[in-house]
Amino acid sequence: MSSTPIKYFTIKPVIRLIQTLVTGTALIAFAGSAPADTQSMDKTTMMSMQKTMKSDMALMKPDLQKQVKGLSKQTKMELMKILSKHERRSKQLTLRQVMNEVLSDYQSIISGLATDNTEQAADSARRLANHRLPVGGLLPYMKQNDVNDESLASLVGFNDLVEGNALRLASAADKGNISEATGYVGKIAEGCVACHQVFRGQPGLSSRLR
Ligand code: HEC
Repeated sequence: MSSTPIKYFTIKPVIRLIQTLVTGTALIAFAGSAPADTQSMDKTTMMSMQKTMKSDMALMKPDLQKQVKGLSKQTKMELMKILSKHERRSKQLTLRQVMNEVLSDYQSIISGLATDNTEQAADSARRLANHRLPVGGLLPYMKQNDVNDESLASLVGFNDLVEGNALRLASAADKGNISEATGYVGKIAEGCVACHQVFRGQPGLSSRLR
């Protein structure tokens, strides 16, 4: 997670460009399915999500709490929509642990597709789409300067690339349409990569190297 300030500064403009492109593409690509996602969240869901956000915030240290409170209403709504798609929440797992589990599900999708096992592919894709949320939600695992409206706006597009396409893959696999299902694999991977480019960077960098 830790890159030096200088390196971060130099790659930032590139990241912003990628972010704009990817979010743009994602929005265009999924304009058809967007309304259902972006419009309504019923009152009960909304209230339960507000509760979830509150309990996540109670776990955060004051400086992160302050950042989250400063987010726009729209960003908070988008975050709640993302949260509302996930029933499984962990009390102790970190985002890195969840990500490793997501990777296993992704691999299991490929395994299913490669062996004409549409059932494995569909189940794994649904499992991936409904991956667990780490303790405290996503924000505690983001870099401090990514917890702002601008960066978080790209989350919606990445989320749809990964989870939206995983669900599309599952429906295609349910119908036994293995070639259509396979067509979604690359899109899911695009979502993983794009989100990592903005919110992660190279894993495991050493602070003991020059
Ligand atoms: C919402 C943005 C986002 C999406 C989408 C996303 N990731 Fe990640 N991923 C992250 C972040 C942030 C980290 C770094 C977490 C940390 O180090 O605390 C990460 C880390 C990882 C890691 C490294 C775990 C480790 O032990 O360091 C793997 C593996 C990974 N992601 C796999 C995936 C796969 C596979 C997908 C797509 C199916 C995916 N991710 C989609 C944000 C995302």
